[in-house]
Amino acid sequence: MKALIDKLRRDRVLSREKFRALLENRDEDAASYLFARAREVREGVYGKDVYMRGLIEFTNYCKNDCYYCGIRRSNDGAERYRLTEAQILDCCDKGYALGFRTFVLQGGEDPYYTDARMCAIVRAVKEKHPDCAVTLSIGEKSYETYKAFREAGADRYLLRHETANDGHYKRLHPPELSLSNRKRCLYDLKALGYQVGCGFMVGSPYQMIGDIIDDLLFCRELDPEMVGIGPFIPHHDTPFRGEAAGTMELTLFLLGVLRLMLPGVLLPATTALGTIHPLGREKGLLAGANVVMPNLSPTGVRKKYLLYDNKICTGDEAAECVQCLKRRIDSTGYTLVTARGDYKKDPEKL
Ligand code: SAM
Ligand code: FES
Repeated sequence: MKALIDKLRRDRVLSREKFRALLENRDEDAASYLFARAREVREGVYGKDVYMRGLIEFTNYCKNDCYYCGIRRSNDGAERYRLTEAQILDCCDKGYALGFRTFVLQGGEDPYYTDARMCAIVRAVKEKHPDCAVTLSIGEKSYETYKAFREAGADRYLLRHETANDGHYKRLHPPELSLSNRKRCLYDLKALGYQVGCGFMVGSPYQMIGDIIDDLLFCRELDPEMVGIGPFIPHHDTPFRGEAAGTMELTLFLLGVLRLMLPGVLLPATTALGTIHPLGREKGLLAGANVVMPNLSPTGVRKKYLLYDNKICTGDEAAECVQCLKRRIDSTGYTLVTARGDYKKDPEKL
């Protein structure tokens, strides 16, 4: 196993067969060896810094009906909300005072936020906080729309591909959504000069090792600046209510693998990882992650943005979350920093 991990570190990729051998035969020893290599690579590019992103969940209306997601349009149990531009700016102001220099505006695919409204919001945030990065995460749009957002000042875009296997994609989504359009979006975003994040859920229903290998190879092909992975967690009001959650063990292992494949990638230790285990985010950082994304949404709406059950941090003020995360990160030997935290190219590739 060590030889395979060393090969992955050297070549940044493995054949399908070797990836399968690595994933199928992984054990605790292999994991600790992988994590130690992942930390070396991560520290080579980013030192001990951990970047924080202020997540603003500004709408839970969604026109889509993904089978796994708690804010899908068919969920009549979801109490819907939208934030106004003024409320979003207020979140950013509070976040700025707490040291945030990146704001992630995330939401369901909500037609209320037309291109004009979205561009106005992005421009307003950038005008008020010109030293901050704005990341959008609002789903699939046309090239023209992504271009308009970019011209309004958006710097980054998160759009998880969810699974890179077409058959698996169809089992997680209704027929009107397709993997090919998802990929088209990601390539359009790259072409427009965004720092782009793809990603997938670990342990989503029907996921096989072969699907995960497809995910890894797709990450290799896209060469994204960010990759968001976290365990699938069932939500009680979705078709997947009875399915098992993904495991922390596999999520951590894949964080380590991704760090070796993409040395400069911005890799969050996600809220979902912190939800399935109290120390999930700390362990994520020690497996190769270098980003945390605490919630800046107003406390009144936090519980309504419920993608999955038992989501953590839904009752805390942003300031409490930052303090809590600071303590947690200190315990890992890494340091939470105040910085935009842009993507850095792997120095070995410069
Ligand atoms: N609408 C945007 C999009 O589709 O990219 C952004 C919001 S979407 C809710 C954000 C991410 O939440 C999805 O990409 C998905 O991977 C994750 N997610 C949704 N339901 C989940 C669940 N039950 N467990 C874990 N992650 C989930
Ligand atoms: Fe929110 Fe710990 S990060 S309470």
